[in-house]
This record gives sequence, structure tokens and C-alpha cells, in this order.
Amino acid sequence: MNIAMLGSGFIARFYAESLHGQRRKDRIVTVYSRNIDNAKRFADDYGLSSHYDDMEEAINKDEVDIVLISLPNHLHEPAVEACARAKKHVLCTKPLGRTAKEAKHMLELVEEAGIFGGYLEDLCYTPKFLKSMESIRQGSIGRVLWAKSRETHPGPHSDWFWDKEQSGGGAIIDLGCHCVEISRNFIGKNIKPLEVMCWAATQVHPIDAEDHAIGLVKYANGAIGQFEVSWAFRGGMDLRDEVMGTEGTIWVNSFLRTGFEMFSSGKGDGYVAEKAEVNKGWLFPVGDEAHELGYPHMFTDMFEAIEENRDPLETFYDGYVVNAILDAAYKSAETKLWEPVVLEIWRGDDETVYNKEYTSYDDEFYLIKEEVLPNGDAKLILKNKKTGELVQKTTS
Ligand SMILES: NC(=O)c1ccc[n+]([C@@H]2O[C@H](COP(=O)([O-])OP(=O)(O)OC[C@H]3O[C@@H](n4cnc5c(N)ncnc54)[C@H](O)[C@@H]3O)[C@@H](O)[C@H]2O)c1
Repeated sequence: MNIAMLGSGFIARFYAESLHGQRRKDRIVTVYSRNIDNAKRFADDYGLSSHYDDMEEAINKDEVDIVLISLPNHLHEPAVEACARAKKHVLCTKPLGRTAKEAKHMLELVEEAGIFGGYLEDLCYTPKFLKSMESIRQGSIGRVLWAKSRETHPGPHSDWFWDKEQSGGGAIIDLGCHCVEISRNFIGKNIKPLEVMCWAATQVHPIDAEDHAIGLVKYANGAIGQFEVSWAFRGGMDLRDEVMGTEGTIWVNSFLRTGFEMFSSGKGDGYVAEKAEVNKGWLFPVGDEAHELGYPHMFTDMFEAIEENRDPLETFYDGYVVNAILDAAYKSAETKLWEPVVLEIWRGDDETVYNKEYTSYDDEFYLIKEEVLPNGDAKLILKNKKTGELVQKTTS
């Protein structure tokens, strides 16, 4: 694929490192940046044949097969509009929109134009995440009851993130989009998210948006998603997921504590990892950041999906559902009530009837719990299927 990169900032460079790393064959061929010097610097660094300070020129360049949007949130929609006009496939970074309304418009634009719309939710492509999903598909942890995802760090690296107008909000829109989509995958994307309860506050920074929030997302099958996001966390970038199922548990630590620990007196002055606050003392570096964050797997899926004429794992539609959940979270933070997730487009199952299946002990009883006690006795807690009476049986 020949790629046009829109934007030359933080994520554009992360994407470029992934795309041009490890002998990959898909190439960025041109870049747009509003500042021509930045465009040139990016083009020089990655060996691109051209660079522009006009977005449409970069998109419309003949050799470009696909456009990669790495611009601030308020520019995602106009960039998708330009791609639809040019009938060029498009990949958009997260969050898709600042609101579900914007995201829905972007979804409609790509579908009407008949172009490919890939949602670059990298954290749904990390090797640990993909392996977890495979285990869940195989039934290793049973039915998922609770999926919690956390992303916290000391705050983003550019002014526009902190401006509610340009970004669409604070930590919820910036980090909650990852967490919501992670939980949604674990619970099942076909299960409808129904309502959200969210606490949000501006605890530390002099901004209008929230710098800390915790939310619960209720799903139609009775499962609960939980997101924990903060721009006030100290100590690096904490990316953790916990999934609780009827038959098992998954705990994933994706970044801060991956099993790689290093002590330095600080002499080397080197880069440690994204959002690391210090480079001396005990440190938690990350081996191959792009890989740990899912970028190579994500781009492979995107490009293969185009070639195989199928949807990628993460689509514009998924980005829209995430935005709808986040809209409800913002509303709930204001009203302090459970707020419905408004999905004008829903392509999953009808509101699933949640059938609880109890474990039968014998014809007469359900099994509630069995445990071996410290004295060696085995205890059974049972419920009579007809009378509802609870009984316990102990065998020594
Ligand atoms: N894990 C991830 O997927 C991830 C990580 C970081 C950022 N992002 C997303 O990537 C996007 C860009 O974030 P970033 O971290 O690269 O930001 P950044 O500030 O580092 O870079 C933004 C780029 O857009 C340009 N820009 C800023 N304002 C502009 C304007 N008004 N008109 C034209 N160009 C403008 C900047 O010059 C720069 O090239 C955001 O949507 C962000 O949410 C995703």
C-alpha cells in the first residue's frame, strides 16, 4: 500500500516507525502537515518523495492508495470528508469522533463513498490482547461477567488535548475510548451496551475538561464493563485489564510492569518509555513499544482486510459505538444518573435475554459452592431446586 500520512506529530511518528520497521513493504509516500517545515522534516526522516502543507493535495496524489489520519480530534471529520471526496481508503486514529454524531457522519461518509474505513484502536491488537481474546473464544474463562480496563498517565503531550473544544473532552474521550473498546471486545461486540454510570472530576489541572473519571457500562447480557482513566496519575503510563468470567480470570499488564525492570543512576539520559516520568532509579522500560502497543498487528489486519475485501477487527462502526458510550458517560457525569447509550445504528444482537444457567449438583440440588476447609473437611453449599432451601453438607 502507498500511504498518505496526515499529521506529523507524536502518533504519526509512532505509526511511521511501525510501518517502515522490520522490512515491511507498505510505505508512507507523502505527508501533510500544516507547517511545511514539519512536513519536510517528517518526509526527510522517513524517506518520503513529497510533502505538503495542503491536506487535499496529499490525499489526491495519484500514487496514494490509503490515507492515515493522525491529526487532532477536531480534524478527523474534515479529513474523512476529504478522503470520501477523493474516494481514497482511510484509517483514522482514536477517538473516531469527538461525539457519536461526528462518528456517525464519518461512518456514513465511508459507506456511501464505498471506501474502506479502519479504526486504529491499537490496544485491541496487542499480542496479549489477541491471545486473551482467543482464550475467551475457546471458552477458557467461561461467560464474561466483568471487564475492567485502565489507562492512566500524567497527561498528554500537546496543547490541543487540553482544550475541550478541539479534543471533545478530557481523559474520558482521550483514554476512555481505548478502555471502552477493550471491555466491549471482551464482553462481546454483538452484545448491546445499554447504559452508563460515570463519575468525572477535574482534580488537578486548571482545565475545563475532566482529568480523572471512572465509569460503568451495562451490557444487555448482564455483563459490566468498567473504565478507569486519568491524566493525573504519576509514575508513567498504566495500561491494565482485568476480565472475570464464570470459569476463569485474565489479568493483563500491557506497559508499566511487563516483567522488564532496570536500575540506572541516570547517567545515560536515555528514553525509557512513553510517558515515563524519570530516567533514574528503578525503571520499567518496554522492549518494543510499537509491538507492545499493538501497532504492527493492527496495520497487518487493516491492509489484509482491504486486500481480502473484508472488515478489519476494528471498523469505523466500532469507533461510532465507542463514541456513543462515551457520550452517555459524559451525560451521566453531569446528571449523576445511569444514562442510556443512544445508538441510532445498531448492528449487533437484539437485546439479549440473559438466561442464567445454574450448576446442578444432582436431581434435587443446585451446587452453590464447594470448598476444602483448613481442617480438611469438604463443605458443600447446596440449594433445593423445588423449595429454594439452602443447606450445607460437610464430609471429613
Ligand atoms: N494510541 C493511540 O492510538 C494514540 C496515541 C496518541 C495520539 N493518538 C491520536 O492521534 C491524534 C493526534 O495526536 P498526537 O499525539 O499525534 O498529537 P500531536 O500534537 O503530537 O500531533 C498532531 C499533529 O497535528 C498537527 N496539528 C495540530 N493542530 C492542527 C491544526 N489546527 N490544523 C492542522 N494540523 C494541526 C500538528 O502540527 C501535528 O502534526 C489524536 O486524535 C490522538 O487522539 C492516538
